[in-house]
Amino acid sequence: MTSKQVLIAIIGAGGVGKCFLSQLEVLARKRPSPQLSLCYICTSKKALYSSDYSAIATDSALSTLGSSSQTPLELPKLADYLASAQSKAILIDNTSSQDVADAYPQFLSRGVSIVTPNKKAFSGSYKLWQDIFAAAAESGAKVYHESSVGAGLPVISTLKDLVDTGDEVTKIEGVFSGTMSFLFNSFAPTSGSGGKWSVEVKKAKELGYTEPDPRDDLNGLDVARKLTILARLAGLPVESPTSFPVQSLIPKELESVSSGDEFLQRLPEFDSQMEETKAAAEKEGKVVRFVGSIDVATKQVKVGLEKFDRSHPIAALKGSDNIISFYTKRYGSNPLIIQGAGAGGEVTAMGVTSDLIKVLS
Ligand SMILES: NC(=O)c1ccc[n+]([C@@H]2O[C@H](COP(=O)([O-])OP(=O)(O)OC[C@H]3O[C@@H](n4cnc5c(N)ncnc54)[C@H](OP(=O)(O)O)[C@@H]3O)[C@@H](O)[C@H]2O)c1
Repeated sequence: MTSKQVLIAIIGAGGVGKCFLSQLEVLARKRPSPQLSLCYICTSKKALYSSDYSAIATDSALSTLGSSSQTPLELPKLADYLASAQSKAILIDNTSSQDVADAYPQFLSRGVSIVTPNKKAFSGSYKLWQDIFAAAAESGAKVYHESSVGAGLPVISTLKDLVDTGDEVTKIEGVFSGTMSFLFNSFAPTSGSGGKWSVEVKKAKELGYTEPDPRDDLNGLDVARKLTILARLAGLPVESPTSFPVQSLIPKELESVSSGDEFLQRLPEFDSQMEETKAAAEKEGKVVRFVGSIDVATKQVKVGLEKFDRSHPIAALKGSDNIISFYTKRYGSNPLIIQGAGAGGEVTAMGVTSDLIKVLS
């Protein structure tokens, strides 16, 4: 093993993990030095690795993993394994696991850098956030998580650049969920009348835009997690994603129904509530959207429904795109706006791969 080699360990080979593997293959070919060597890959049940860190072929890694009889190393053992290598190691966490996220300080403090689209570590307790960045600062290991907000859109890197170059971010506002974007763009379009709320939710589920139980999107927590991350990067020590107001779009009566299917079946009973919200906005010549906002000066973070003029960039969003506006002192009254696909395996993996390039640099 030479110092011209960097070891790559991947946890998670689902939608994003698979796309990342193929992007890693391209990157390794384009960038021969340092040589990128995949030494570990696992899902929740299976793993592939060898004690001498020998390279796993990236093009056949998934099929070899599928027929492997090895089980994943426990996280402390994986940290030992990577920290004991003679080459630098980078852990790519392509899961949404809280357990993996909780272990980041262990990896970082032992010099293993981390790249991930997983929101959990950065939007959980503020203590975990502090532990992660303290461990990284002490060991010099790097931690990047661009895809944890807006998938491959350059949201986090832009915010960091604004802050690091001394701009004053006054407000961040946007549509942070592809699911919510799709739902409101079709429920309350800027022209035409749009569909019934329950019908749009059902359609979104059928198109694969929602979680298996749509309540996991409608409760607003995913957006709250993203806002927590951005607020912290903007300098607000937000305690957790439940420490500020988050509007849930799940009718109270349906919070405890046992399944997502039963929820969808009963949702039409509550269509009139959403219809009223839509009509109230229309009366003012506006449309309703599900947004997150961070007012840095007043330290207010909130997630929920807001009304926008039809000509506002947030109202005019299309499909399931995300939009994030940064209001800053330098940009004045015309915000810096980032817009585009905020979900999907390839774009999310792009954020992961570009973070990996930053660590290599
Ligand atoms: N997909 C997107 O559009 C998107 C966009 C932005 C961010 N993200 C984030 O990207 C991450 C991955 O998303 P995804 O869509 O690829 O998810 P996914 O398809 O559900 O894949 C998750 C992978 O992680 C593995 N895994 C889960 N828990 C694990 C554990 N404790 N130990 C080892 N492996 C574990 C799963 O293995 P099993 O199959 O064995 O369970 C699976 O291979 C998530 O954090 C997600 O929030 C995704």
